[in-house]
Amino acid sequence: MIPTDLSAKIGELKKKRNAVILAHNYQLPEVQDIADLTGDSLELSRAAAKTSARVIVFCGVHFMAETASILCPDRKVIMPDAGACCPMANMLSAQQLAALKAQHPGAVTVGYVNTSAEVKALLDVCCTSSNAVAVVNSLKEAKEIIFVPDKYLADYVSRQTGRKLIAWNGFCPTHLKITAEDIMREKKFHPAAKVLVHPECPAEVIALADEVLSTSGMGKYARQSKAKEMIIATEVGIIHRLKLDNPDKEFYPAAERAVCPNMKKTTQEKVLWSLENLREEVRVDDETRRKAKKAIDRMLEIK
Ligand code: 13P
Ligand code: SF4
Repeated sequence: MIPTDLSAKIGELKKKRNAVILAHNYQLPEVQDIADLTGDSLELSRAAAKTSARVIVFCGVHFMAETASILCPDRKVIMPDAGACCPMANMLSAQQLAALKAQHPGAVTVGYVNTSAEVKALLDVCCTSSNAVAVVNSLKEAKEIIFVPDKYLADYVSRQTGRKLIAWNGFCPTHLKITAEDIMREKKFHPAAKVLVHPECPAEVIALADEVLSTSGMGKYARQSKAKEMIIATEVGIIHRLKLDNPDKEFYPAAERAVCPNMKKTTQEKVLWSLENLREEVRVDDETRRKAKKAIDRMLEIK
C-alpha cells in the first residue's frame, strides 16, 4: 500500500497510543490496508485475547468489539463507528433466549458469536462460522441442543453433524441476497472455477458449493488450492484481500449486491478520529462479562 497523509497519521498515532487495529475481512479496502490484522471472527477474537497493546481499535461490527472487550477488560476497546451493528445479532434478545431455554430446560445452548454480550451470558458455548461443526460435535453427551440465532448456519451444522438442533429464526440479510441462480450463472461464465460458500447462506446455495468456509477459511483455501479461478459466495469485501494475496488468480463475487452496509461504515477518517479521541469505547458490565467469557473460553478451548 502507498501511504497517504491519512494512513501515515494513523500509523503515528497508533504508536503514540500503543494501539492495535483489527479489521474484519468485510471492511472497506482502505480500512483493511491500515489494519495490523484482518481476519474472521475467530481470528480477531484470538488476536484480541493475545494482544499486549493498550488500545484495540476494532473495525467491524458491535458484537465483535464487545467480544474483544469481554476477552480483555483491562484494554480500551474502541470502535471508529459504534453505530455499526449486525442485524442478525439484533434478531435475538436475552429475554427471547431465556424464554427458549425455559421451554427446553435440559438443552445445551450454543450461540454464534454474532450475538450481544447479554445473549452470550446465557450460552453454554459460543461458536463462529469456522468452528460451529466442531463445537456441536464436541457435545456428545447433550440430549438436546439449542443453536442460535442463525437458522441457516444451524441447518448446515445439523446436516454436517447429524444432530437435530433447536434453531432460532435469525439470518444474515446480506448472505440472503446470494441466490442459487447467481451461482449457476457464474458457473456458466466460469466453468473451471471452484465455488466457495459461507455457511450463513441458505441451503440451496450451500448445495452448489465445492467448499463451505468461513471468510478466513476462504483466504486459506485460495492460497493453498491449485484452482486459478474461484466464485466467492459471501460479502464482497473479502475480494480485496483475496486479490492482494493471490495476484495470479481470479475471484468472481457470486453477487455484487451482497454488501453488508454496517461493515462499510468504518473509514480511515473515522479510524483517525477514534485514535485521536479514544472513542467510542465499548465495554460490558462485569457480571455479564464474566458469564459471557465462560462461553467464549469454552469455544476457544475446542479449536
Ligand atoms: P466470519 O468472518 O467469521 O466467517 O463471519 C462472517 C460474518 O458475517 C461476520 O459478521
Ligand atoms: Fe451481520 Fe451479515 Fe453483516 Fe456479518 S455480513 S455483520 S452476519 S449482517
